[in-house]
Amino acid sequence: MLPIVAYGHPVLRKISREIGRDHPGLQDLIHNMFETMYESVGVGLAAPQVNRSIRLFIVDASAYGDKIPEAAGFKKVFINPEILEESGEEHSIDEGCLSIPHIREDVTRQEKVRIKYYDEHWAFHEEQYGGIVARIIQHEYDHLEGILFTDKISSLRKTLIRKKLHDITKGKVNTDYKMIFAPRRKKLSNA
Ligand code: NI
Repeated sequence: MLPIVAYGHPVLRKISREIGRDHPGLQDLIHNMFETMYESVGVGLAAPQVNRSIRLFIVDASAYGDKIPEAAGFKKVFINPEILEESGEEHSIDEGCLSIPHIREDVTRQEKVRIKYYDEHWAFHEEQYGGIVARIIQHEYDHLEGILFTDKISSLRKTLIRKKLHDITKGKVNTDYKMIFAPRRKKLSNA
């Protein structure tokens, strides 16, 4: 299991870089990311959340499979993805994130997403998704752009969760999974 990077860590704010087919340890990383995601009960996980600033995320929406047919058995790896288009009505749905424990907030996004990407075998795909699957993809894709769901909530809600976010940054949070927190800033002395 890999430790998960917590809100406040600079890697979550970087724009991730594309990788090549010869990226060292890629298959192991993908395997370990799935293990980590299942162990921490997530439905998606992006590489920056395990401290790798590369364009890779994984999704397993099967947990929603009982209620939402298109989510059943939806387990995919997205390498070097690019969102080509978002379309449809805007919907507000509550989102959470393994990097931002114990916080869920309503986020507005369009209902459909068209995306191109490579899978774990480097096969190319261009596909359109809707509903919960699109929502997870949009959330994970944002991680590759250094964007977190808390960036997309109302300023009132932001104010209300500011203290909680500050606590997470400082490592004051309890989770069933291991986390990496932002390095402490050393105060510069005048000496
Ligand atoms: Ni997330």
